[in-house]
Amino acid sequence: MTRPRSRFRAPLNKEALAFSSSLAVDKWLYREDIEGSIAHVTMLAQQKIIPANAARRIRTALQQIRREIDSGRLRLPAPGADGGRMAADDIHMAIEARLIEKIGETGKMLHTARSRNDQVALDERLYLRRTMKEMHALLRGLQRVLVSKAHAYRDVIMPGYTHLQRAQPILLAHHLLAYVEMLERDRGRFADCLRRAARSPLGAAALAGTPFPVDREASARLLGLDGIVENSIDAVSDRDALIECVSACALTMMHLSRLAEDLVLWVSQEWRFATIGEAFTTGSSIMPQKQNPDMAELVRGKTGRVYGDLVALLTVMKGLPLAYNRDMQEDKEPLFDAVDTTAASLSIMARMFQTVRFIPSRFEEELRSDFLLATELADYLVRKGVAFRTAYMHAGAVVRECAGRRCSLTDLPLKQYRAINKKFEADIYTVLNPRVSLRQKKSSGSTSPAEVGRALRRWSRVLGHSF
Ligand code: ARG
Repeated sequence: MTRPRSRFRAPLNKEALAFSSSLAVDKWLYREDIEGSIAHVTMLAQQKIIPANAARRIRTALQQIRREIDSGRLRLPAPGADGGRMAADDIHMAIEARLIEKIGETGKMLHTARSRNDQVALDERLYLRRTMKEMHALLRGLQRVLVSKAHAYRDVIMPGYTHLQRAQPILLAHHLLAYVEMLERDRGRFADCLRRAARSPLGAAALAGTPFPVDREASARLLGLDGIVENSIDAVSDRDALIECVSACALTMMHLSRLAEDLVLWVSQEWRFATIGEAFTTGSSIMPQKQNPDMAELVRGKTGRVYGDLVALLTVMKGLPLAYNRDMQEDKEPLFDAVDTTAASLSIMARMFQTVRFIPSRFEEELRSDFLLATELADYLVRKGVAFRTAYMHAGAVVRECAGRRCSLTDLPLKQYRAINKKFEADIYTVLNPRVSLRQKKSSGSTSPAEVGRALRRWSRVLGHSF
């Protein structure tokens, strides 16, 4: 509604209004906008800038408006309803116009000592605060599912990969816990972002501050924020808090996308390491046998869009002179899109992963049939005093020999081992066992059952859950 067109004789051109209106997007800030306005009028009354009874009437009316919008009852005053002097171009003006419609002149006091510039900056920070809490819960939810799977399959050994080539045996639980760690850093990024975001720009007004004796700290306190954004120009000019949030979303999506990719591979007929519950897979419109991992693919696909949101925001901001520029209105679509997409992806991943079943026999088959234990040969020689690089070369020679004979490491006769290095003895065959290989790992954070057990216990503690 409003953009008060007081110095204008002509109403805003209809197409210009449609082009510049952000109401369809920023209406999702209505709760934050009302929360901010309530704190603002409360402070105005405390400071005797407006009468206490006016503040009371405004507060009551704002609460009613919130309920009207909550229940879908609010019909925002039509653009131009005031004879073309006001344009309903964003949620801030729409709520103010509704307020004035409800309580008349008193409502017109709300915007004292405030500009939409500090108002929108506040609304966005309040939105970030809500979002960060939601992300925290969603990340914890997915971590819990991953840890419970890791626990359920804690004895399963799988081939670990580098370059998507079989590398060394690892515990499936260790692989899953790697994602839990990544998600923990994502959680930390959201929490860290909130530390900087939870400050109030209110009182900065358009850019220069206000002549009224506002108490910026008081309105910040009323909102439960940690303080104010000190410099009034900075307070209305930057959107770095949003960008940090979207950047944390982008990183979270990157992690989810890799987990999705692992799943897509694992459930393929080529790998058959796992299945996803039917409720989370789809069929094909032509091939009756298909059971596709669409949810995982969509998470992977949506990641691209969230990256796009980040680039969009960075690009909107990069050339703007201080202070506010209308370009900044374009910040909300990428912000909401990134947050909604990341939240939905975290949620579906948790639900879908709950239905994932791993197939231990398939892992065993694949462990038997490869050179995954070649590193063990080198380490064996090192333990017998051979320098690592020499041991590595000799282990390589063993692999070449086996490849030539089309046999596995365990099938190669001791004579051939000894032809390569005399330090190979009969006990080499006991080393050539995935379970022994895992137990041999001594470094902290390794895939040894002892270390993975320790990590599982730690995560159960952190997540407050016994699996
Ligand atoms: N809808 C605007 C936005 O989101 C609100 C701020 C408008 N301020 C202004 N000076 N036109 O950016």
